[in-house]
Amino acid sequence: MKGIFITLEGPEGSGKSTQAERLSDYLLRKGIDVLCTHEPGGTRIGERLRKILLSPRSKGMTPLTELLLYLASRAQHVEEVVKPSLARGKVAVSTRFSDSSLAYQGYGRGLNKQLIRKMNQVATAGLKPDLTILLDIDIPQGLKRARAGSKGDRLEREKREFHQRVRQGYLKLAKQEPKRIKIVKVKGSIAEVQKRIRQQVEELLKKAGYRL
Ligand code: TMP
Repeated sequence: MKGIFITLEGPEGSGKSTQAERLSDYLLRKGIDVLCTHEPGGTRIGERLRKILLSPRSKGMTPLTELLLYLASRAQHVEEVVKPSLARGKVAVSTRFSDSSLAYQGYGRGLNKQLIRKMNQVATAGLKPDLTILLDIDIPQGLKRARAGSKGDRLEREKREFHQRVRQGYLKLAKQEPKRIKIVKVKGSIAEVQKRIRQQVEELLKKAGYRL
């Protein structure tokens, strides 16, 4: 059986990692073989790239360099982790994937979106998620959560306007691909948000023949 690829996307502080972990635990309890992973990172090389990308010491990185490093991390991740897991029939859950590059480097930084789409295609060898959950949150609220107790990483330190463009970009992407990208509003408790995510995931898995 070919696996299922699910991604979680959204602006800073939307709770993606927590929700991805909870979703993975839930699926594991249902007896489903799950891979829980993330970008940038997810591989040894990817984690080294992540450090360069998020370090405030990388101030001055050009938008194109930034894009290329995210894509490099993605290429390694797809080849080394995601594709082999899907080939083994796993359900792969990744916090962030190609849509992040469109939202952040395209809508946020203003790089050409067509170019990013093409480069994503190269980096992923054409792999697309079966389902993307877009965790939508108000930017002031998200930034407050993300920066709590710290100054934030290089991206979190960007201006509020940058993050607003990212959020609007995500919402446009969801409009363009309503079948794949499902918006889940970050409202209420973690458990309530998780419940709404599970509804979307269960619908997909049932269609794919999984018994839940
Ligand atoms: P996170 O793991 O805490 O979400 O941090 C990753 C940061 O990198 C976040 O600010 C979003 C950003 N990012 C991009 O700008 N482009 C990308 O393609 C990816 C995967 C992440």
